[in-house]
Amino acid sequence: MKKPFLIVILFSVLFTAVSCIKSDSTPSLSSSLTSVQGIEKKVNELLDRMTLEEKVGQMNQYVGFWDLTGPAPDSGDAAEKYEHLRNGYVGSMLNVRGVENVRGVQKIAVEESRLGIPLIIGFDVIHGYETISPIPLAESASWDLEAIRKSSEVAAEEAAAAGINWTFAPMVDITRDARWGRVMEGAGEDPYLGSKIAKARVLGFQGTDLSQHTTIAACAKHFAGYGFSESGREYNTVDVGTSTLNNMIFPPFQATVDAGVRTFMNAFNVLNGIPATGNKYLQRDVLKGKWAFDGFVVTDWGSIDEMTSHGLAKDGKEAAMIAANAGSDMDMESHLYVKELAGLVREGKVKESFIDDAVKRILKVKFELGLFEDPYKYCDEVREKEVIGQQAFHEAALDLAKKSIVLLKNDNQLLPLKKQGQKIALIGALAADKNSPLGNWRIAAKDHSAVSVLEGMQAYKENKLTYAKGADVSIGYTAFTAQVQINTSDKSEFPQAIEAAKSADVVVMVLGEIGYQSGEGRSRTKLGLPGVQQELLEAVYKVNKNIVLVLNNGRPLVLNWHHENLPAIVEAWQLGTQSGNAIAQVLYGDYNPSGKLPMSFPRAVGQVPIYYNYKNTGRPTGAPGVFWSHYEDEENSPLYPFGYGLSYTSFEYSNLKTSVVSEKEVQVSVTLKNSGKQTGKEVVQLYIRDHFASVTRPVRELKGFELVSLVPNESQEISFTLTEKELGFYDNNGNFILESGDFSIFVGGDSNANLQSTITL
Ligand code: NOJ
Repeated sequence: MKKPFLIVILFSVLFTAVSCIKSDSTPSLSSSLTSVQGIEKKVNELLDRMTLEEKVGQMNQYVGFWDLTGPAPDSGDAAEKYEHLRNGYVGSMLNVRGVENVRGVQKIAVEESRLGIPLIIGFDVIHGYETISPIPLAESASWDLEAIRKSSEVAAEEAAAAGINWTFAPMVDITRDARWGRVMEGAGEDPYLGSKIAKARVLGFQGTDLSQHTTIAACAKHFAGYGFSESGREYNTVDVGTSTLNNMIFPPFQATVDAGVRTFMNAFNVLNGIPATGNKYLQRDVLKGKWAFDGFVVTDWGSIDEMTSHGLAKDGKEAAMIAANAGSDMDMESHLYVKELAGLVREGKVKESFIDDAVKRILKVKFELGLFEDPYKYCDEVREKEVIGQQAFHEAALDLAKKSIVLLKNDNQLLPLKKQGQKIALIGALAADKNSPLGNWRIAAKDHSAVSVLEGMQAYKENKLTYAKGADVSIGYTAFTAQVQINTSDKSEFPQAIEAAKSADVVVMVLGEIGYQSGEGRSRTKLGLPGVQQELLEAVYKVNKNIVLVLNNGRPLVLNWHHENLPAIVEAWQLGTQSGNAIAQVLYGDYNPSGKLPMSFPRAVGQVPIYYNYKNTGRPTGAPGVFWSHYEDEENSPLYPFGYGLSYTSFEYSNLKTSVVSEKEVQVSVTLKNSGKQTGKEVVQLYIRDHFASVTRPVRELKGFELVSLVPNESQEISFTLTEKELGFYDNNGNFILESGDFSIFVGGDSNANLQSTITL
């Protein structure tokens, strides 16, 4: 992460000098308001006392100079930002972390500005603060909503102890294109699973009482369509039809509103010709209108200013006008609201009622967080020391890391490894890597703080373990803002790896992407193993075919050669602080893998975007000749479908029963049996297909799932209720409708589930 030290120093000097000046103003507003009943009343009273400039100030958010998560601001900004803080022209800061730093900026806002309105302090707590959980895509592979909720709860508690009271998470963008680096940050391709996970994460961050010092405000982002960027290239144009917008993109966002999310972030992309930041339809009509969202919307970093590059606004002033009129409540790092909005109101170009509405929303969340009662409630040095890095947080991270692993292949039961008597060669730079498992978006984590696979496997002492790196994945400096330099030529350590493999009973190869190869600004056109890793793998394969491939990656990869040739493949993503322990426990069978893929894995880059819930073409299957929807050189289907994942045991599905209770309710049941030899957990998945509708429907849609744990030979009947909510869809006017007709119901262990029944509603 880039830290502009000169700016830090300049800012610190100014800050220290002025912090020493005691404020002689009347008692801060915070205390005088505590007796007033009702947040709305308090907000209105406060608003009445604010000047136009102070109102606009609440809509202004500055970065705090410590961690840059967007393009660096100009060096001259520090003095101006400080001045604005003091004048009450700053409503929020992001990337200020640690109690001492947060207290510092809060003190200026509360004790030096005229009205003493506290700042809301935002930070990207994406999958943990210092104790890092699996990347969100991996967490989603667990399908375990309670464990996911817990992970966000832990992240909130740790971040709150460091002074933060607002996270820019969850990212609920639906993602179908593995080229896009930010697939790592979401819940994958399905709106039903995505909605459940979105809700779990909001509840985890916010808890049931936002005023607790352990909970923080969540932020659903990026509204809307960001995951559909053309050709998977970061920040690229998005053009989607109404059906996709309403049925695929919107549902997880709406789920966060239903769960009470307090903030939204808009997006960098243009959606159907209008940048999301200047999009009135999205923000005023849908979000604040139709969905009645009563929190506030922050822009993404600099996205107001970017509307000039998009070609919507001729200059910054016009961009500020468009954004405010469209319902963007807070300006993150464009500096345009603070500069232009008051003038625009005076010129009659932005209604003051829009400003009032935005400010009320922002103040409301600050009241809900309890910041007016105690602006320093997140600033307790003792708590900071005690809470961060707690053992219980590591246990939660380990639990979810194990549950996130997906077993992709396991021929001849090569896995689990025997606990003794085997010679194991562990190969690959990622096997000893303590940084990459943290993934991207782990800004507050200590570098190299993850347990590596090597360390995790060393805990199993009864085998002979030999480690050989084989080859580096990247060379040089890797960091949040730096371009990753891939090693494409250095094979000097291949011989040691080949030697180690020759004499081993089993070879475990840990290969994939380094932690910073996915995330923001990390689009890729190739989805193979980066650098010389594939060559290394094939060189090792020549001397020992008994290979377990453990993948560390932030996106689906193309794994055809691997699937064809290797006996065992484990998708271990980037699993966070406890990564190596989780992987070792799965490899040695102390945890029976139960994860299921939240995104389809393509056979070729040319297939993406690829997703299971596609719509049929008019020529879906193999008519004689070429005139049907297919590729000349590859199958249509993915290599591993959505929902797929194996276990060390096996499961049998039988006895699918469906009953139409009414035109709005269908009961479904199925029997699941553990037909293998080990206790295991299965994600039972229910899909529907609405065969004929006024707007065509996908060939399959996930509409229910349940995690079931069974001992060998145990059977259980699993029941689902489908209601209007699951059976209906949005038409092209955005109305939710349920149409009668034929529906197929499929139940099984992945999106190819073949147990099927057809009903008529
Ligand atoms: C830009 C990213 O798109 C957004 O997700 C993030 O929250 C902000 N930067 C702040 O870091």
